[in-house]
Amino acid sequence: MSLTLDSYRLLGRSGLRVSPLALGTATFGTEWGWGAERDEARKLFDLYVERGGNFIDTANTYTEGSSERLLGEFARDHRESLVLATKYTTLRRPGDPNSGGSHRKSLFASVEASLRQLDTDYIDVLYLHVWDFTTPVEEILRGMDDLVRQGKILYVAISNAPAWQVSRMQTIADLRGWSPLVALQIEYNLIERTGERDLIPMAREMGLAVIPYSPLAGGVLSGKYGRADLTPADGASGGASGAPSEDGTRRNFNLALGTLTERNLAVADTVKEVAAELGRTPAQVALAWTLRKPGVTAPVIGARTPAQLEGNLGALDVYLTADQLARLDEASSIGLGFPHDMLAGDHIRRVTKGDLRIETRR
Ligand SMILES: NC(=O)c1ccc[n+]([C@@H]2O[C@H](COP(=O)([O-])OP(=O)(O)OC[C@H]3O[C@@H](n4cnc5c(N)ncnc54)[C@H](OP(=O)(O)O)[C@@H]3O)[C@@H](O)[C@H]2O)c1
Repeated sequence: MSLTLDSYRLLGRSGLRVSPLALGTATFGTEWGWGAERDEARKLFDLYVERGGNFIDTANTYTEGSSERLLGEFARDHRESLVLATKYTTLRRPGDPNSGGSHRKSLFASVEASLRQLDTDYIDVLYLHVWDFTTPVEEILRGMDDLVRQGKILYVAISNAPAWQVSRMQTIADLRGWSPLVALQIEYNLIERTGERDLIPMAREMGLAVIPYSPLAGGVLSGKYGRADLTPADGASGGASGAPSEDGTRRNFNLALGTLTERNLAVADTVKEVAAELGRTPAQVALAWTLRKPGVTAPVIGARTPAQLEGNLGALDVYLTADQLARLDEASSIGLGFPHDMLAGDHIRRVTKGDLRIETRR
């Protein structure tokens, strides 16, 4: 089926309609050494909204606050029709331990700061950004629910957390009548598929939309990197230090994060082969793979230039054949690990209700 940005999908077990591709805004602002200046960011926003896109992703600390500020400025005339998602927990002031974390003080202060930066009265979706291994889940859920009751946030969601904690939180929220989590944002792409072990099945079972981030693995799946890029280009200073790349791309950050490896370039090679067969770009093929995976609601796409965004939106009408999907799955396969590998074996006789009736009669 052909998709467009206004082929809206429901966000988890809620009635909220969102576009099948969300616009990521970590590229709004250049404070991180890559990204788009204000005028270029405006073009990215306008292009996405003109095509019917309504789901925009940011975070309190992206590009040191520039991302939220620019988004707030651009969204002013469209506020009601947009679903703005932001996040809390990352440290807002270095050295001040309570300016980050999942706890209530951090939550309330961060939401107030985001409301100011976004220049809005409410946040549509608030994610817990990064699990802090400290705050009791009741404190998080109760704080989020209080903010929902105050009308400052409409829906609550979570990112970067263990599956068992999210599952437990959802159960507690259900039992206590607190606002349920409606979405799970995780890295999920042809290079990072470990979410298939527990996170994605958990989200589907517990009513959370799966919102994959970094669907191009920071650009590696666009096919623009080669083996020469595996070696730091800037000699002694170390290209893998995360320092900005001379060409303005994320190459050095990808090296520093370990996303540029021989294995990952081999996955990108298969993506390029499939793209050549379809007459599409590798980025479109990689995005289409994530977009069409069962359980996925809306990948968050990243783009630094309008040309990249325009090209990436073309993923909406890319169809992969069963053979192409199988080759992409094979090239990027991971072991599911225990207990999934063990459970896949024939250790118990699985019976359907029909089988059971026949056996009982014997
Ligand atoms: N929840 C979280 O913890 C979390 C973490 C990360 C991201 N996110 C969200 O997800 C969004 C997207 O993440 P991401 O930026 O990592 O996504 P991505 O799609 O994996 O990478 C985007 C980058 O790839 C390059 N690129 C994009 N399209 C291209 C094309 N057609 N051809 C060549 N290069 C292309 C650009 O970098 P260069 O041109 O500079 O190389 C661009 O900045 C973010 O904006 C943010 O909203 C959330």
